[in-house]
Amino acid sequence: MSGEWHDACAADALEEETIIGVMIAGRPVALFRVGGAPYALHDLCPHGQARLSDGFVDGDCVECPLHQGLVDIRNGRPRGAPVSTPTESYPARERNGRIEVQLP
Ligand code: FES
Repeated sequence: MSGEWHDACAADALEEETIIGVMIAGRPVALFRVGGAPYALHDLCPHGQARLSDGFVDGDCVECPLHQGLVDIRNGRPRGAPVSTPTESYPARERNGRIEVQLP
């Protein structure tokens, strides 16, 4: 995917098991850290109107707070019903103490 890299948050604020919801260029983005690496997903459950950033980290998945559907944090793929379609996933990186996200 090509696109612009955007500043998202301080790297040390993004810990394992935490989720940070931010608005980047008018787009809601949920930030995660799994196995030390940062990840970013569109911050809206593909099943309904819930924010994934209000959900819970369960291993390498995020559990939606509304109906407990599971989304893979690393690629946005559905991992548990009632979620059945992918969530948009954005490249994320750590640079100079900041988390950056690439948006299309
Ligand atoms: S809104 Fe997320 S599982 Fe239903």
